[in-house]
Amino acid sequence: MNAEATRAIDWARVRNDFPLLTREVNGKPLIYLDSANTGQKPASVIEATDDFYRRHNANVSRAVHTLGSEATEAYEGARKKLAAFLGVHGDDLVLCSGTTFAINLVAYSWALPRLNAGDAILITRMEHHANIVPWQLVAQRTGATIKVAELLADGSLDLDALHALMTPEVKLLAIAHVSNVLGTVNPVAAICREARKRGIVSVVDGSQAAPHMALDIPAIGCDFYAITGHKMCGPTGTGALWARREHLQAMPPFLGGGEMIKEVRFDGTVFNDAPHKFEAGTPNIAGFVGLGAAVDYLSTLGMDHVATRESELLAHATEELRKVDGLRIFGEASDKAAVISFQVEGAHAHDLATLLDLEGVAVRSGQHCAHPLLQWFGVAATCRASLAFYNTHDEIDAFVAALLKVRRLLL
Ligand SMILES: Cc1ncc(COP(=O)(O)O)c(C=O)c1O
Repeated sequence: MNAEATRAIDWARVRNDFPLLTREVNGKPLIYLDSANTGQKPASVIEATDDFYRRHNANVSRAVHTLGSEATEAYEGARKKLAAFLGVHGDDLVLCSGTTFAINLVAYSWALPRLNAGDAILITRMEHHANIVPWQLVAQRTGATIKVAELLADGSLDLDALHALMTPEVKLLAIAHVSNVLGTVNPVAAICREARKRGIVSVVDGSQAAPHMALDIPAIGCDFYAITGHKMCGPTGTGALWARREHLQAMPPFLGGGEMIKEVRFDGTVFNDAPHKFEAGTPNIAGFVGLGAAVDYLSTLGMDHVATRESELLAHATEELRKVDGLRIFGEASDKAAVISFQVEGAHAHDLATLLDLEGVAVRSGQHCAHPLLQWFGVAATCRASLAFYNTHDEIDAFVAALLKVRRLLL
């Protein structure tokens, strides 16, 4: 979708869909620039969750009464909506609490039974801890090793080095689609193609991609794709793992309990079919109803419109921030999502974020669950302004003005 079409959307009206964005913080209008951490929710998502509890609340897949059927229909309806949004079949989508759970599911059910000493897991320098630590746990228990693909100075992946690391002992590649710190968009389709050629199973962490771009998971060609609902306008505690059907069929359950079985006897249990085999216990039903509403909301906006809008906001914010003396931006890849990590010379990131909060501006400071990445840059912390389609050019200008004021106070 081109910029022309994006402008046809009334973004000021879109912003009005988000009740929280009208509040003040410390006596100033809130400028929320922390959407990579968690996204704000439109009224339709809040209402869908509220309506579920007010009118339909019951457990899923258990009771034959009317409310039980309504709850099951709503939950399974959300699975179908999410599947359509991601371009996949609902039977291949495991609903879970988020990307962290989704990656751990792959680690424990796919990797742990298969990997041995002498095998390797390939990750990259820019991974979130959720895509590092589960693999370290697998490595500790199997004797496998971890290999790390490094970056180029602009925060993009060194693709030649990555491909060179795809040696025969590598059994699994775990890679972010979009970096939560740098905003770098990795060419995951090309990377997964190379992995597949070499018989390497690929796991893509799509937490930061799903909120910002139209996704077609089959076109990426990975084996597993993880998303998290709360970053894409949905409630916290919602997410999903898509997997190739042959993996879901072959993998043992991760957790045991109700819902994931067909029959339980003391001499053995018959597991349910995928994806239910991986959904033990009562799920976050109201949360998924809300996620279904979030998917409806984003689909009505159009993810291409969202992507174009956010790249305009990113361009404006980058241009304005570059004018600030002593400001360094981390991550300047040519393909970049609307995330800007920065430091101001002489000012600590936490001090900047604290003083910005007094001006009503919410940015994240710290290591962004990516210690190895910040170690590589040789910095202890950065500030991160992460934008969403509901932000405005005026907010960016106000943020930069607040940053200049704060900088004067600190230096
Ligand atoms: C790139 C990336 N991966 C994984 C996660 C973990 O997501 P969650 O905490 O929702 O499971 C995040 C969240 O910040 C993220 O940005």
